[in-house]
Amino acid sequence: MSSFEWNKMAGAFLGALVLALGLSAVSGELFSHPKVAAAGHATIAGHGTQGGNGAGAASVKPLADRLVAADAGKGAQGTKSCQACHTFVKDGAVKSGPPLYGIVERPIASVPGFAYSKALEAKSGNWTFEALDRFLADPKGYANGTKMTFAGERDAAKRADIIAYLDSLSDDPRALPGKNAMTRSE
Ligand code: HEC
Repeated sequence: MSSFEWNKMAGAFLGALVLALGLSAVSGELFSHPKVAAAGHATIAGHGTQGGNGAGAASVKPLADRLVAADAGKGAQGTKSCQACHTFVKDGAVKSGPPLYGIVERPIASVPGFAYSKALEAKSGNWTFEALDRFLADPKGYANGTKMTFAGERDAAKRADIIAYLDSLSDDPRALPGKNAMTRSE
């Protein structure tokens, strides 16, 4: 074997070694990536807390699009965690939270006799789909000082499912984008 050929072989071996080292460095980076993603998420959540706009993060699809894809059946499942504090049936009782039947388009903080927090009482307007989306994403971010000790549903698609379910709990459900538009009565 000429020394030239030997050098070529050694060079190829070194090349492979460098490649392997490079790959392990890259996979190390991939491995740490979830942490980076989590930090990014926390930043977005923090922004929501300040701006009260947790659902408005750029990566989240617009609510109208999410509602088109929403599944009220899944939303019913998604409200299991709410049932400790809320009833969902018509003329349902007050628990530690106000009853939620007919919540869509109901004026915010309006169940007679329920002792709402000042934070929620200070809100004006009705529980629109948008307002519910923002409140459920980050209750404290939406109403700083709310008595609702629920961390929030961070999964935007699941929130849309829950909102679709809440909308069905009504004598007169609002039309969801792309759905039951024929039954809309306004
Ligand atoms: C640990 C108890 C608790 C849990 C769990 C909880 N809530 Fe609440 N919720 C409350 C309380 C208490 C209030 C009143 C908040 C206030 O006055 O600030 C409230 C208020 C609300 C309101 C506003 C009602 C109104 O009349 O203005 C909505 C909507 C709501 N909750 C939806 C939900 C949904 C949907 C879930 C589950 C995904 C949920 N909550 C989970 C306790 C809870």
